[in-house]
Amino acid sequence: MTDSFKCEQVPYCALAEQYGTPVYIYSQQVMTDAFTQYQHAFSALQPLICYAVKANGNLSILRHFASLGSGFDIVSGGELQRVLLAGGDPAKTIFSGVGKSKAEIEFALTNNILCFNVESLPELERINTIAGKLGTHAPISLRINPNVDARTHPYISTGLKANKFGIAYAEALAAYQYAASLPNLNIIGLDCHIGSQLTDLSPLVEALERLLPLIDQLTALGFQLKHIDLGGGIGIVYHNESVPDLPAYASAVAKLLAGRNLKLMLEPGRSLIGNAGDLLTTVEYIKQGEEKNFVIVDAAMNDLMRPSLYQAYHGILNVSETTADEFVADVVGPICESGDFLAKDRTIAAKAGDLLLVQCAGAYASSMASNYNTRCRAAEVLVNGTEHRLIRPRENLSELLANEQSCLRTI
Ligand code: LLP
Repeated sequence: MTDSFKCEQVPYCALAEQYGTPVYIYSQQVMTDAFTQYQHAFSALQPLICYAVKANGNLSILRHFASLGSGFDIVSGGELQRVLLAGGDPAKTIFSGVGKSKAEIEFALTNNILCFNVESLPELERINTIAGKLGTHAPISLRINPNVDARTHPYISTGLKANKFGIAYAEALAAYQYAASLPNLNIIGLDCHIGSQLTDLSPLVEALERLLPLIDQLTALGFQLKHIDLGGGIGIVYHNESVPDLPAYASAVAKLLAGRNLKLMLEPGRSLIGNAGDLLTTVEYIKQGEEKNFVIVDAAMNDLMRPSLYQAYHGILNVSETTADEFVADVVGPICESGDFLAKDRTIAAKAGDLLLVQCAGAYASSMASNYNTRCRAAEVLVNGTEHRLIRPRENLSELLANEQSCLRTI
């Protein structure tokens, strides 16, 4: 194996030897750089950057973002628990999502989170009732659907009329007035999120342009909003897509917000962690099918669902000193589904035993992992310079089966 492929200063082959495969490897420096880039680009506006926990909720990763001063965007009570355990600040935590349960709302209220991003009138009523019972006022913002096409994969586009998210633009004023009529709410902001993996800047700017006249109308009606939250971050380069320029995005936002006394909030996930992680996997077999070749590896769709679910592209590098010739193959896992693939028709040189690096697997990889086919979830390792440490041990079968086994005994 060669030492030339490294995460920071640690060769991938050494990491594979120590921790086994499949394993997610994260670079702390890449995370820090990505966060700092947001801070620099938006420095004129001093935004609150709330890392979207759903992208990767590993406690050590959350702790690192907290140490950089990040707030958090959560979508469940479980994610709030992660933020708290990691030492994140609930006063910098916002709660998004269309289906917040009573227990989750109560948990968030008792921990004094910064704001609920509310997505419907029934949710407003529920939060109002629970806040009343707790003798408090719930800080809320309404997620308004600007009806802008984010031009991304339909499963991760959220700002269109047909999507389940947000309150319709046409109903926004009425929704704010309704919120104002409820006694236990404190209306502090307005937010939107139009989609993820945005490769074009214009929908982001268009969404803000649509929301500003609404804010003016609200101000005229006597609402005093403190913040505007523009939702998730920009897309990242997985293959050869062009992605929005962060400083260009920041200056467009600064221009539009000039003269307004509104704090900016952002909820980036993918662009903070996506490029910081890779998935290391070992080739089990090379199989020559009748029509296709297959590189069968020890990682599968349960470790990285994005190719199967969104036809997403992830670069794959052979980081071994391979002696194999190049050929065209599908890179597939051991799961019993034809939909289990990490790459299709990829030109690759690989032989059994080689170590492959599946790139850009920091975001929506481990956080979307499952135990399908009773596969244990992979280990996660954080690298910092020459140091590295386990931040989640590989799951083992006895842990995986313990809950069910205890039920077997009680029957
Ligand atoms: N805020 C809200 C309300 C969101 O729904 C999301 C992502 C974000 C922020 C973070 O967006 P980002 O900066 O990461 O683009 N599993 C899919 C992505 C789902 C995104 C869901 N919402 C994927 O692997 O592409």
